[in-house]
Amino acid sequence: MRVVIIGSGNVASVMGRLINKNGHQVIQVISRHIDHAKMLADELHCPYSGSNDEVDKTADVYIVAVSDGALYELNKSFHIGNKLILHTAGSVLKDVLKDISVNYGVIYPLQSLRKEMEYTGDIPLLIDGNSEETITLVEDFARTISDKVVKASDEERLKLHVAAVIVSNFTNHLYALAEEFCEKENVDFKLLAPLIKETAVRVQDHSPASVQTGPAIRNDIFTLDKHLRLLANYPRLKYVYLKLTDSIMKG
Ligand SMILES: NC(=O)c1ccc[n+]([C@@H]2O[C@H](COP(=O)([O-])OP(=O)(O)OC[C@H]3O[C@@H](n4cnc5c(N)ncnc54)[C@H](OP(=O)(O)O)[C@@H]3O)[C@@H](O)[C@H]2O)c1
Repeated sequence: MRVVIIGSGNVASVMGRLINKNGHQVIQVISRHIDHAKMLADELHCPYSGSNDEVDKTADVYIVAVSDGALYELNKSFHIGNKLILHTAGSVLKDVLKDISVNYGVIYPLQSLRKEMEYTGDIPLLIDGNSEETITLVEDFARTISDKVVKASDEERLKLHVAAVIVSNFTNHLYALAEEFCEKENVDFKLLAPLIKETAVRVQDHSPASVQTGPAIRNDIFTLDKHLRLLANYPRLKYVYLKLTDSIMKG
Protein backbone atom coordinates (compact mmCIF):
# COMPACT_ATOMS: atom_id res chain seq x y z
CA MET A 1 0.00 0.00 0.00
CA ARG A 2 1.09 3.58 -0.66
CA VAL A 3 0.31 5.61 2.43
CA VAL A 4 0.05 9.31 3.23
CA ILE A 5 0.44 10.18 6.91
CA ILE A 6 -1.12 13.34 8.25
CA GLY A 7 0.45 14.32 11.56
CA SER A 8 4.00 13.93 12.78
CA GLY A 9 3.64 13.17 16.49
CA ASN A 10 3.84 9.96 18.48
CA VAL A 11 1.28 7.89 16.59
CA ALA A 12 2.26 9.21 13.14
CA SER A 13 5.90 8.34 13.82
CA VAL A 14 5.28 4.87 15.24
CA MET A 15 2.72 3.96 12.54
CA GLY A 16 4.95 5.35 9.79
CA ARG A 17 7.87 3.17 10.86
CA LEU A 18 5.69 0.06 11.15
CA ILE A 19 4.16 0.73 7.73
CA ASN A 20 7.54 1.06 6.00
CA LYS A 21 8.93 -1.93 7.90
CA ASN A 22 6.10 -4.18 6.73
CA GLY A 23 6.33 -3.86 2.97
CA HIS A 24 4.26 -0.72 2.41
CA GLN A 25 5.51 2.73 1.51
CA VAL A 26 4.82 6.05 3.19
CA ILE A 27 4.78 8.40 0.19
CA GLN A 28 4.14 11.71 2.00
CA VAL A 29 3.99 13.23 5.48
CA ILE A 30 1.82 16.29 6.05
CA SER A 31 1.93 18.23 9.30
CA ARG A 32 0.80 21.68 10.43
CA HIS A 33 4.35 22.67 11.35
CA ILE A 34 6.41 22.01 8.25
CA ASP A 35 9.61 21.42 10.25
CA HIS A 36 7.81 18.60 12.11
CA ALA A 37 6.64 17.15 8.79
CA LYS A 38 10.22 17.32 7.46
CA MET A 39 11.69 15.56 10.47
CA LEU A 40 9.39 12.54 10.13
CA ALA A 41 9.53 12.55 6.31
CA ASP A 42 13.36 12.49 6.40
CA GLU A 43 13.23 9.44 8.66
CA LEU A 44 10.67 7.73 6.41
CA HIS A 45 12.48 8.82 3.22
CA CYS A 46 9.52 10.56 1.57
CA PRO A 47 8.33 14.03 0.54
CA TYR A 48 6.51 16.29 2.99
CA SER A 49 4.25 19.29 3.17
CA GLY A 50 2.87 21.68 5.75
CA SER A 51 -0.51 21.95 4.04
CA ASN A 52 -3.37 19.54 3.41
CA ASP A 53 -3.93 21.36 0.08
CA GLU A 54 -0.76 19.67 -1.20
CA VAL A 55 -1.85 16.13 -0.35
CA ASP A 56 -0.62 13.44 -2.76
CA LYS A 57 -3.82 12.07 -4.27
CA THR A 58 -2.16 8.89 -5.58
CA ALA A 59 -2.00 7.05 -2.23
CA ASP A 60 -4.12 4.00 -1.34
CA VAL A 61 -4.52 4.88 2.34
CA TYR A 62 -4.52 8.17 4.29
CA ILE A 63 -3.83 7.91 8.02
CA VAL A 64 -4.74 10.97 10.05
CA ALA A 65 -2.86 10.91 13.37
CA VAL A 66 -3.52 14.40 14.69
CA SER A 67 -4.89 15.62 18.02
CA ASP A 68 -8.56 14.80 18.58
CA GLY A 69 -9.68 18.43 18.22
CA ALA A 70 -7.88 18.84 14.89
CA LEU A 71 -9.88 15.92 13.42
CA TYR A 72 -13.04 18.05 13.54
CA GLU A 73 -11.34 20.79 11.52
CA LEU A 74 -10.07 18.45 8.82
CA ASN A 75 -13.08 18.39 6.49
CA LYS A 76 -12.68 22.12 5.82
CA SER A 77 -9.37 21.55 4.06
CA PHE A 78 -9.37 18.04 2.73
CA HIS A 79 -11.30 15.96 0.17
CA ILE A 80 -10.03 12.72 -1.38
CA GLY A 81 -13.04 11.19 -3.17
CA ASN A 82 -13.16 7.45 -2.54
CA LYS A 83 -9.67 6.83 -1.12
CA LEU A 84 -9.49 5.04 2.24
CA ILE A 85 -8.97 7.49 5.11
CA LEU A 86 -8.46 6.39 8.73
CA HIS A 87 -8.07 8.21 12.01
CA THR A 88 -6.27 6.89 15.07
CA ALA A 89 -8.31 8.31 17.98
CA GLY A 90 -9.96 6.29 20.74
CA SER A 91 -12.82 8.66 21.54
CA VAL A 92 -13.74 10.24 18.19
CA LEU A 93 -16.57 8.83 16.01
CA LYS A 94 -15.49 7.43 12.65
CA ASP A 95 -18.08 9.72 11.00
CA VAL A 96 -15.79 12.70 11.64
CA LEU A 97 -14.18 11.67 8.32
CA LYS A 98 -17.39 11.20 6.32
CA ASP A 99 -17.14 14.43 4.31
CA ILE A 100 -13.55 13.72 3.27
CA SER A 101 -14.02 10.39 1.51
CA VAL A 102 -16.76 7.85 0.92
CA ASN A 103 -14.46 5.17 2.42
CA TYR A 104 -13.43 5.98 5.95
CA GLY A 105 -12.66 4.26 9.21
CA VAL A 106 -10.42 3.92 12.23
CA ILE A 107 -7.13 2.24 13.08
CA TYR A 108 -6.71 2.86 16.81
CA PRO A 109 -3.55 1.59 18.53
CA LEU A 110 -4.49 0.38 22.01
CA GLN A 111 -1.07 1.17 23.44
CA SER A 112 0.68 4.13 25.01
CA LEU A 113 2.94 5.29 22.16
CA ARG A 114 5.97 7.56 22.36
CA LYS A 115 7.88 8.35 19.21
CA GLU A 116 11.22 7.96 20.99
CA MET A 117 10.58 4.22 21.46
CA GLU A 118 10.81 1.21 19.15
CA TYR A 119 7.73 -0.97 18.71
CA THR A 120 7.17 -4.27 16.94
CA GLY A 121 3.98 -5.89 15.68
CA ASP A 122 2.48 -6.46 19.12
CA ILE A 123 0.44 -3.25 19.30
CA PRO A 124 -3.27 -4.18 19.37
CA LEU A 125 -5.15 -2.29 16.66
CA LEU A 126 -8.89 -1.64 17.05
CA ILE A 127 -10.31 -1.15 13.57
CA ASP A 128 -13.59 0.04 12.10
CA GLY A 129 -15.00 1.23 8.78
CA ASN A 130 -18.14 2.75 7.30
CA SER A 131 -19.11 -0.40 5.33
CA GLU A 132 -18.32 -4.13 5.33
CA GLU A 133 -16.03 -3.62 2.30
CA THR A 134 -14.16 -0.83 4.06
CA ILE A 135 -13.82 -2.89 7.25
CA THR A 136 -12.31 -5.76 5.22
CA LEU A 137 -9.85 -3.34 3.59
CA VAL A 138 -8.83 -1.84 6.94
CA GLU A 139 -8.55 -5.29 8.52
CA ASP A 140 -6.35 -6.66 5.73
CA PHE A 141 -4.07 -3.63 5.94
CA ALA A 142 -3.96 -3.64 9.77
CA ARG A 143 -3.04 -7.36 9.86
CA THR A 144 0.14 -6.60 7.91
CA ILE A 145 1.42 -4.30 10.68
CA SER A 146 0.02 -5.95 13.82
CA ASP A 147 -0.51 -9.49 15.15
CA LYS A 148 -3.55 -8.34 17.12
CA VAL A 149 -6.32 -6.73 15.07
CA VAL A 150 -9.84 -6.49 16.54
CA LYS A 151 -12.95 -4.93 15.07
CA ALA A 152 -14.53 -2.42 17.47
CA SER A 153 -17.47 -0.06 17.03
CA ASP A 154 -17.27 3.63 18.04
CA GLU A 155 -18.93 2.71 21.35
CA GLU A 156 -16.63 -0.25 22.09
CA ARG A 157 -13.54 1.81 21.20
CA LEU A 158 -14.68 4.63 23.50
CA LYS A 159 -15.19 2.17 26.39
CA LEU A 160 -11.75 0.62 25.86
CA HIS A 161 -10.23 4.11 25.70
CA VAL A 162 -11.71 4.89 29.13
CA ALA A 163 -10.26 1.62 30.48
CA ALA A 164 -6.92 2.42 28.81
CA VAL A 165 -6.77 5.82 30.52
CA ILE A 166 -7.39 4.13 33.89
CA VAL A 167 -4.84 1.31 33.53
CA SER A 168 -2.12 3.38 31.88
CA ASN A 169 -2.45 7.14 32.39
CA PHE A 170 -3.78 6.92 35.95
CA THR A 171 -1.24 4.35 37.15
CA ASN A 172 1.54 6.43 35.58
CA HIS A 173 0.25 9.49 37.44
CA LEU A 174 0.36 7.49 40.68
CA TYR A 175 3.98 6.59 39.92
CA ALA A 176 4.71 10.30 39.42
CA LEU A 177 3.11 11.24 42.75
CA ALA A 178 4.98 8.42 44.53
CA GLU A 179 8.27 9.47 42.94
CA GLU A 180 7.78 13.07 44.09
CA PHE A 181 6.93 11.84 47.61
CA CYS A 182 10.04 9.60 47.72
CA GLU A 183 12.29 12.44 46.54
CA LYS A 184 10.95 14.80 49.20
CA GLU A 185 11.23 12.14 51.92
CA ASN A 186 14.76 11.11 50.83
CA VAL A 187 13.98 7.47 50.02
CA ASP A 188 14.84 5.71 46.76
CA PHE A 189 11.87 5.45 44.33
CA LYS A 190 13.90 3.02 42.17
CA LEU A 191 13.65 0.38 44.93
CA LEU A 192 9.97 0.09 43.95
CA ALA A 193 10.77 -1.03 40.38
CA PRO A 194 10.38 -4.81 41.02
CA LEU A 195 7.06 -4.15 42.79
CA ILE A 196 5.77 -2.07 39.85
CA LYS A 197 6.77 -4.87 37.47
CA GLU A 198 5.27 -7.66 39.59
CA THR A 199 1.93 -5.84 39.88
CA ALA A 200 1.70 -5.44 36.09
CA VAL A 201 2.80 -9.01 35.35
CA ARG A 202 0.39 -10.55 37.87
CA VAL A 203 -2.75 -9.14 36.25
CA GLN A 204 -1.83 -10.78 32.92
CA ASP A 205 -3.00 -14.11 34.41
CA HIS A 206 -5.28 -13.10 37.27
CA SER A 207 -8.32 -10.91 37.69
CA PRO A 208 -6.99 -7.74 39.41
CA ALA A 209 -9.63 -7.79 42.17
CA SER A 210 -8.60 -11.33 43.12
CA VAL A 211 -4.95 -10.35 43.71
CA GLN A 212 -5.48 -7.06 45.57
CA THR A 213 -3.14 -6.68 48.54
CA GLY A 214 -2.33 -3.85 51.00
CA PRO A 215 -3.72 -2.28 54.18
CA ALA A 216 -7.05 -1.19 52.64
CA ILE A 217 -8.15 -4.70 51.56
CA ARG A 218 -7.02 -6.04 54.97
CA ASN A 219 -8.99 -3.28 56.68
CA ASP A 220 -5.82 -2.48 58.63
CA ILE A 221 -6.96 0.78 60.28
CA PHE A 222 -3.78 1.12 62.39
CA THR A 223 -1.49 1.20 59.32
CA LEU A 224 -3.86 3.37 57.29
CA ASP A 225 -3.89 5.93 60.07
CA LYS A 226 -0.07 5.96 60.20
CA HIS A 227 0.13 6.50 56.43
CA LEU A 228 -2.39 9.33 56.49
CA ARG A 229 -0.49 11.10 59.26
CA LEU A 230 2.70 10.89 57.19
CA LEU A 231 0.79 12.32 54.20
CA ALA A 232 -0.44 15.37 56.12
CA ASN A 233 2.04 17.58 54.25
CA TYR A 234 1.01 16.17 50.85
CA PRO A 235 -2.65 17.20 50.46
CA ARG A 236 -2.95 16.06 46.83
CA LEU A 237 -1.43 12.65 47.52
CA LYS A 238 -3.47 12.29 50.73
CA TYR A 239 -6.67 13.00 48.77
CA VAL A 240 -5.84 10.33 46.18
CA TYR A 241 -4.78 7.89 48.94
CA LEU A 242 -8.12 8.36 50.75
CA LYS A 243 -10.24 8.03 47.58
CA LEU A 244 -8.46 4.85 46.44
CA THR A 245 -8.51 3.36 49.95
CA ASP A 246 -12.25 3.97 50.11
CA SER A 247 -12.73 2.35 46.69
CA ILE A 248 -10.62 -0.71 47.63
CA MET A 249 -12.54 -1.11 50.91
CA LYS A 250 -15.84 -1.15 49.01
CA GLY A 251 -14.48 -4.21 47.16
N1 LIG B 1 0.13 8.62 21.89
C1 LIG B 1 -0.65 7.63 22.19
O1 LIG B 1 -0.33 6.83 23.07
C2 LIG B 1 -1.92 7.38 21.41
C3 LIG B 1 -2.41 6.06 21.38
C4 LIG B 1 -3.55 5.80 20.65
C5 LIG B 1 -4.21 6.81 19.97
N2 LIG B 1 -3.73 8.09 20.02
C6 LIG B 1 -4.45 9.11 19.27
O2 LIG B 1 -3.70 9.45 18.10
C7 LIG B 1 -3.87 10.84 17.78
C8 LIG B 1 -2.51 11.52 17.76
O3 LIG B 1 -1.93 11.38 19.03
P1 LIG B 1 -0.35 11.63 19.26
O4 LIG B 1 -0.02 11.04 20.58
O5 LIG B 1 0.40 11.18 18.07
O6 LIG B 1 -0.32 13.21 19.39
P2 LIG B 1 0.96 14.17 19.35
O7 LIG B 1 2.21 13.39 19.49
O8 LIG B 1 0.66 15.23 20.34
O9 LIG B 1 0.88 14.78 17.89
C9 LIG B 1 -0.22 15.54 17.53
C10 LIG B 1 -0.18 15.85 16.06
O10 LIG B 1 -1.36 16.59 15.76
C11 LIG B 1 -1.00 17.75 15.02
N3 LIG B 1 -1.91 18.82 15.42
C12 LIG B 1 -2.17 19.26 16.67
N4 LIG B 1 -3.10 20.24 16.65
C13 LIG B 1 -3.40 20.45 15.34
C14 LIG B 1 -4.28 21.33 14.66
N5 LIG B 1 -5.04 22.21 15.33
N6 LIG B 1 -4.35 21.25 13.31
C15 LIG B 1 -3.58 20.37 12.63
N7 LIG B 1 -2.73 19.49 13.21
C16 LIG B 1 -2.64 19.54 14.56
C17 LIG B 1 0.45 18.06 15.37
O11 LIG B 1 1.05 18.67 14.27
P3 LIG B 1 2.33 19.63 14.43
O12 LIG B 1 3.32 18.85 15.27
O13 LIG B 1 2.81 19.85 13.05
O14 LIG B 1 1.83 20.83 15.14
C18 LIG B 1 1.03 16.66 15.63
O15 LIG B 1 1.52 16.11 14.44
C19 LIG B 1 -4.84 11.39 18.83
O16 LIG B 1 -6.14 11.29 18.31
C20 LIG B 1 -4.67 10.44 19.99
O17 LIG B 1 -5.84 10.36 20.79
C21 LIG B 1 -2.60 8.40 20.74
